[in-house]
Amino acid sequence: MNREGSGLKSDERSSASLCTAQERSAAGEERARSVPARDGMIDSELGHNELLAIFAHELRSPLSAISNALDIWRSQADLNAQKCAQRMLDRQLRKAIRLVDDLMDLSRVKRGVIHTAAATVDLSRVVGDAADGLTHQFSAHRQTLSLDLPPEGVCVLGDATRLEQVVANLLCNSAKFTQDGGRIEVTLVRQAQDAVLSVRDNGIGIDPGMLSSIFDLFAQADRAADRTQRGLGIGLTLARGLVESHGGTIEARSSGHNEGSEFIVRLPVLSTAEAGAQHATADS
Ligand SMILES: Nc1ncnc2c1ncn2[C@@H]1O[C@H](COP(=O)(O)OP(=O)(O)O)[C@@H](O)[C@H]1O
Ligand SMILES: [Mg+2]
Repeated sequence: MNREGSGLKSDERSSASLCTAQERSAAGEERARSVPARDGMIDSELGHNELLAIFAHELRSPLSAISNALDIWRSQADLNAQKCAQRMLDRQLRKAIRLVDDLMDLSRVKRGVIHTAAATVDLSRVVGDAADGLTHQFSAHRQTLSLDLPPEGVCVLGDATRLEQVVANLLCNSAKFTQDGGRIEVTLVRQAQDAVLSVRDNGIGIDPGMLSSIFDLFAQADRAADRTQRGLGIGLTLARGLVESHGGTIEARSSGHNEGSEFIVRLPVLSTAEAGAQHATADS
């Protein structure tokens, strides 16, 4: 899967770059505001005040961009600029909603009240669906995403939506922390009683000293190169919580800076007999 370019016509490009510049400047301004210092390699399990300040700061960025988009929409008679402002609104609104949703899910995971359905789920399908939803992100950065999924599928007991959320989180990170034109490889295999999913990229990598704490709440590597790509630092905490609520494990591997990263999720696999029994129960 390797789709290149943004699909914009040439006469739309100048409006697009206006919008992109506005989005970047909104994000940049918000980043420049005073927020709790997160310098140093990793911060984790911050206090409540810092949590609120970080969340407010992260939400402020899409909200500023939304406000900019509305200004463009109102002030530009040019149809292309207006369309572009609509796309910007759409992107930033989804970003803000995702942020709030992630935080709500995280709170549920932390309180142990996350609801996960228990159905037979084909992980190949889950991975395919997660990848389909992110093609735009990969193509925007001319990144190649390759999927190596067993055609016969690998079934686990769980919640397809939640598992897709885990895979999407890992794929999003790969896109974020891999340079333009980079490569992301996803493989899914069955190993003994486990379904083993690997998401590997050739991006900026992770310092080996941080691998054990990368799943902690608000953990973020602090490198100048990826500052523009920073989020809230809850995606991996959420992913781990969701994987563990399915009886699985998640681990990170990397040989260090610019050596790429690999995230491995293991989930107990359902045998064909168990999957059949599960289907029968669901049907009765
Ligand atoms: N594929 C990856 N390559 C390099 N670093 C990564 C990758 N995935 C996650 N990280 C590091 O782990 C941190 C935590 O990730 P996450 O919890 O998803 O938070 P966020 O994406 O909001 O920064 C990231 O900020 C980054 O430093
Ligand atoms: Mg993330």
